[in-house]
Amino acid sequence: MNTGNSISRRGFATMLAAGLLATGLTACSNSDTGGDGGKKADGKIVLGFSQVGAESGWRTANTNSIKEAAGAAGIELKFDDAQQKQENQIKAIRNYIQQKVDVIAFSPVVESGWDTVLKEAKDAGIPVILTDRAVDSADKSLYKTFLGSDFVKEGRLSGEWLVEQTKSATGPVNIVELQGTTGSAPANDRKKGFAEAIAANPNLKIIASQSGDFTRAGGKQVMEQFLKANPKIDVLFAHNDDMGLGALEAITAAGKVPGKDITIITVDAVKDGMQALAGGKFNFIAECSPLLGPQLMDLAKKVHAGETVPTRIETEETTFTQEQAKEALPNRKY
Ligand code: AHR
Repeated sequence: MNTGNSISRRGFATMLAAGLLATGLTACSNSDTGGDGGKKADGKIVLGFSQVGAESGWRTANTNSIKEAAGAAGIELKFDDAQQKQENQIKAIRNYIQQKVDVIAFSPVVESGWDTVLKEAKDAGIPVILTDRAVDSADKSLYKTFLGSDFVKEGRLSGEWLVEQTKSATGPVNIVELQGTTGSAPANDRKKGFAEAIAANPNLKIIASQSGDFTRAGGKQVMEQFLKANPKIDVLFAHNDDMGLGALEAITAAGKVPGKDITIITVDAVKDGMQALAGGKFNFIAECSPLLGPQLMDLAKKVHAGETVPTRIETEETTFTQEQAKEALPNRKY
């Protein structure tokens, strides 16, 4: 965890304040609070953030957004990469509690299993903000707000586009689905939204559905299996661009033309995905914005100040066809 520098900087300020410098003692600590509503000696709010990992282009853009926004907002960020493991996230959150950070934020890798650690944060008086992904805790008082996309809507918009494209189909349209990380909110919700939407056309059938863990390698490997097991695949719905990009390799290697022989729908709209769409290899993308940093910093300041914030803040998003991707690409930030 990248905490060493920040601890010693703040510890140094604390020692100065306490007049301990002459002793040369290592009185550095994260538990130093002034009389200013818990503000640290240097006046900066300390935000502990536990990130899912670095599994996709989306995630990299999200991490960059958070780091840049923290710098711009004058917030001291402690950042931990959990490498897609829930136990690492729980460990990081417990560290932040021990260090008495001002605010904790995290993007939960999976939906379930957070109540105990969230209760620990609540008991320690540290407000928690969920970003990007939700938890399924029944006790909503365990976190202040959830900032992120409506994943069900992303799945539904993808399915609705397909229903429109296939409305004149007279026979079965075979769909394979590359799911995101098992148990994660975007995998659960995108699957649900897509299935609900395609129910409008009985010709549309999901013939295989498996997790590719939101990674390119996973997408490629699972698509290879799909192609081997299913001679007729008409559509691929991938829960993110990266899995779709991995699948492109498998489709091409199987002698098929992506975007033509197999219609490809993905979610995210990161640059590589948008390039594939503009280049005719993907057919449709439902956007999921990773640029959550500025809103997160704003929320961190508000919850630290004890202000009431909305319990749900939904990210604004759109969808892209091939033509729309060509237009949007030059101005894409990530
Ligand atoms: O939680 C958001 C999802 O996580 C993105 O769609 C995906 O690319 C990422 O890994």
